[in-house]
Amino acid sequence: MTGHLYAAPEPSVTVRTPGKINLVLRSGPVQPDGYHLLSTIFQAVSLFEEVTATRAQPGAGITLTVSGPQAGLVPTDETNLAWRAARAVADHTGLDADVALHVTKGVPVAGGMAGGSADAAAALVACDMLWEAGLSRQELTQLAARLGADVPFSLLGHTAVGTGRGDVLTPVLTRGEFYWAFAVQAEGLATPSVFGRFDELSGTTPPGGGTVPGPGDDAELMAALRAGNPVDLGAALHNDLQAAALDLRPELGRVLEIARDAGTLGALVSGSGPTVAALARSRRHALAIAAAWTAAGVVDSVWTATGPAPGARIIAR
Ligand code: C5P
Repeated sequence: MTGHLYAAPEPSVTVRTPGKINLVLRSGPVQPDGYHLLSTIFQAVSLFEEVTATRAQPGAGITLTVSGPQAGLVPTDETNLAWRAARAVADHTGLDADVALHVTKGVPVAGGMAGGSADAAAALVACDMLWEAGLSRQELTQLAARLGADVPFSLLGHTAVGTGRGDVLTPVLTRGEFYWAFAVQAEGLATPSVFGRFDELSGTTPPGGGTVPGPGDDAELMAALRAGNPVDLGAALHNDLQAAALDLRPELGRVLEIARDAGTLGALVSGSGPTVAALARSRRHALAIAAAWTAAGVVDSVWTATGPAPGARIIAR
């Protein structure tokens, strides 16, 4: 038989991780390490990043490609969090960092929804599996926390209280699905500059002082999540960074106003912004809020999603 010779495809692993919003974000003053002590409640939403890790020849090193709606905004060198995650797995295990990473973006870039952190979480899990490193959940979580404050939550998903830098997590019980609309701006906001403006506005000095309210202060929001009550959830949404984001981007005020006019149950800047998240009564209502933003010409794109969404999952291998 004169058959063709087919090269077997290189083994690969694809991992999907969610973006997030902060239902509540309370920030204390900046600490000597440059981070702020937070008390936050994360909710993962059904906007997903996917990272495929494919075996590369020995000595090939790490390579990275990116696709998706805002791929052009994402660096493809060692500053990319997915790249740094692959490096971290290799350094931790002593394995060679030979891998081709491909990131498919489904979360707004630099939008305050932790898309880069989701890439890091996905790359950790994908490289661990591809290289058969056998890292424990605890090791993955430790590597995640070193890569960024939001990375452990992207591993975990669903809804969780975050303390410390936002990286010490406790899962929260929720019922049902919540419907969200997102107003996305083409130009992102750098998280450090939003925290910097927060410090200026709140006049919190010297570093290291002050306290952060604990999650007990959000009893009404916790009860709304447990009951699956979107009206009460909408009333309890809160973000300490919102004033700073609005100060840097005054036009976001109009985005919030339009969501309110469209009957949102609650709208707020997501994390450090500039994405605005609006809680809706239904899938259809989320689309109506998105349509109102589009009609007013105040956004570069509108996205809708549900929450909570699961954390890191292997979807192909
Ligand atoms: O941890 P990550 O790299 O995502 O954080 C980016 C920046 O956001 C930090 O360098 C810091 O300036 C700011 N940040 C903060 N306090 C936090 C989390 C982030 O000041 N708890």
